[in-house]
Amino acid sequence: MIFPLIFMLILHKDVQALQVIGGNITVVQGSTAFFPCILKDTTEKLNQISWQKKTKKNPEKINFFTILPEGPEFFNVHGERFTSAANFNEKNGSFRLSNVTLMDQGTYTCIFTLFPSGNHQTEIPLNVLVPPVISVKSDIPTLGDKEVSLATCTASGSLPPAQVNWVFGNLNLKITTNSSVNDDGTTTTISTLWGVPTIELDHRSVQCVVTSEALSTQKSQPFTIQIHFPPTEVNVQEKSSVYLSVYRMAIQRYSTPGTDRIIYGLILLSKQMVHCCIFYA
Ligand SMILES: *[C@@H]1O[C@H](CO)[C@@H](O)[C@H](O)[C@H]1NC(C)=O
Ligand SMILES: *[C@@H]1O[C@H](CO)[C@@H](O)[C@H](O)[C@H]1NC(C)=O
Ligand SMILES: *[C@@H]1O[C@H](CO)[C@@H](O)[C@H](O)[C@H]1NC(C)=O
Ligand SMILES: *[C@@H]1O[C@H](CO)[C@@H](O)[C@H](O)[C@H]1NC(C)=O
Repeated sequence: MIFPLIFMLILHKDVQALQVIGGNITVVQGSTAFFPCILKDTTEKLNQISWQKKTKKNPEKINFFTILPEGPEFFNVHGERFTSAANFNEKNGSFRLSNVTLMDQGTYTCIFTLFPSGNHQTEIPLNVLVPPVISVKSDIPTLGDKEVSLATCTASGSLPPAQVNWVFGNLNLKITTNSSVNDDGTTTTISTLWGVPTIELDHRSVQCVVTSEALSTQKSQPFTIQIHFPPTEVNVQEKSSVYLSVYRMAIQRYSTPGTDRIIYGLILLSKQMVHCCIFYA
């Protein structure tokens, strides 16, 4: 019984000494991923280094890269994005993949074929981060006294999901946030800004702030709240054939904040024609 036990211990020690060193790669979509793979601590003869992959685009495991003493060769792939960084004599099977897309996400297997012990491999996961596309849309609500949505900020197609928030100082506003998962696994997050559409809110500046692991810094989108002022008829009198109406015309904005005023217009109409206008504040 003693002999096999010692033999197994020796064998075990030998296997532990040999190492295939890979990694775990995380890159932002569009950038270049470096796939390291090194064989260490062996004196056995190296016959070949080969790579297999299983990706979102091709869930079936395929061979795509072989490194022989004669040189490296890619196959089953559109070669332009792949560059060998391998060195057979240094037992280095590394390569680069440029312009990474979500379709490249998956598991890459690096295999060293040795004589006499056979294959030794490691699996390298590639995680792809996708930055969101950010847009802000104004709902241009009409002046009123009920809470309505003022604007929406959308961070679409983010992986992992983005956080969307609004910065609005001491304005009396509210935020709701919704998100949905897209077919490709990315997430679209929509944040809605709510408030009572008063004159005071018109032309106020707020910001939509988006953070995501896929963005190097948080992104801010400045936004100016817009309130729609309908021409409201205040008083209508009939004087001979001339209709007299007072319209609230518009908001006049002066250069100093806080001096917004309503301008009223006096419009003389006869048979759909505007005769004259007087404005006063
Ligand atoms: C690889 O890294 C990602 C992100 O850092 C992590 O979520 C994942 O669990 C890691 N995978 C392995 C196999 O270590
Ligand atoms: C393997 O080759 C790559 C590309 O030439 C190089 O960057 C890397 O340092 C090498 N690794 C080792 C352990 O020599
Ligand atoms: C990167 O990939 C995208 C989508 O496949 C393509 O439109 C673009 O031209 C590529 N860019 C480079 C620099 O290869
Ligand atoms: C958020 O999602 C729920 C369920 O999909 C939907 O009913 C609701 O209208 C959405 N809200 C916004 C503000 O988009």
